[in-house]
Amino acid sequence: MAQFSAEKLAKVNEIIARYPQGKQKSALIPVLHIAQEEFGGWLSAETMDYVASILKIEPIEVYEVATFYSMYNLKPVGKYVFEVCQTGPCMLNGSDDIIEYIKSKLGIKVGETTADGLFTLKTVECLGACGYAPMMQIGKHYREHLTKQKVDAIIDECERNAVTNN
Ligand code: FES
Repeated sequence: MAQFSAEKLAKVNEIIARYPQGKQKSALIPVLHIAQEEFGGWLSAETMDYVASILKIEPIEVYEVATFYSMYNLKPVGKYVFEVCQTGPCMLNGSDDIIEYIKSKLGIKVGETTADGLFTLKTVECLGACGYAPMMQIGKHYREHLTKQKVDAIIDECERNAVTNN
């Protein structure tokens, strides 16, 4: 059964305590972030049920939020998740080409993960960095003004880091 480590549980309780009694549901979004980080980068039904039990809300209330936001993964993902923005300004600056290039380079479709478990490709809506279009988010970092050459360099960098961190 999913269970937070003592350290993560303390963090979760600290977040819940920021809200008035009975309003612990307000902590749902940050608690889901912690859960996703703690349980392998994605939210299983079991994890979402666990979060619901901690916040004393119905599981459906957790599912509604987790399925609405693209930052939550509802199935296992790779070590590096490429979230490529496909909204207007990024599209006008070539995000379609970037997405196609990543697909062909990694041999996966949007929503898929490479067989080696390193990369997942997602498309997302505006990430608020339109002035740096086309762009994508990888973990906590934005990669901007993407070109095919930059994508090559980013993939190389991730592969190198994956080897170093193993
Ligand atoms: S349209 Fe891509 S960051 Fe806003």
